[in-house]
Amino acid sequence: MGWELDESIRSMVQYRYFNLLESMSALGVFDVVYCRNVLIYFDQPTKSDVLSRIRNQMSEDGVLYLGGAETVLGICEDFKPVPGQRGMYGIVSNVAQRAVG
Ligand SMILES: C[S@@+](CC[C@H](N)C(=O)[O-])C[C@H]1O[C@@H](n2cnc3c(N)ncnc32)[C@H](O)[C@@H]1O
Repeated sequence: MGWELDESIRSMVQYRYFNLLESMSALGVFDVVYCRNVLIYFDQPTKSDVLSRIRNQMSEDGVLYLGGAETVLGICEDFKPVPGQRGMYGIVSNVAQRAVG
């Protein structure tokens, strides 16, 4: 038998199908977004668009997880890698932070 999430936690979770190419504005604000191994399907402009719309749905101290072979570098300036945490990206919340990387 595999792992199973306790009902007390499962009852707080909503499972939904969602197309990342559609508007995300009704989804609410997230502290953590897992978008692992999905961007591989999109061309560069679409990756950029999806990432910036994901960012718009995230809290300022939120984190994004991408697949180990994926990156935001050169695609979206809204996120920056979290040092030492492979696949984990934090929000770049202002222009000054962007300038120093
Ligand atoms: C390679 S799988 C990765 C699954 C999982 N995230 C993982 O890392 O094991 C890619 C997933 O992206 C989903 N996907 C592809 N295009 C999508 C889109 N436009 N919106 C939402 N999901 C999409 C596919 O349905 C598939 O489940």
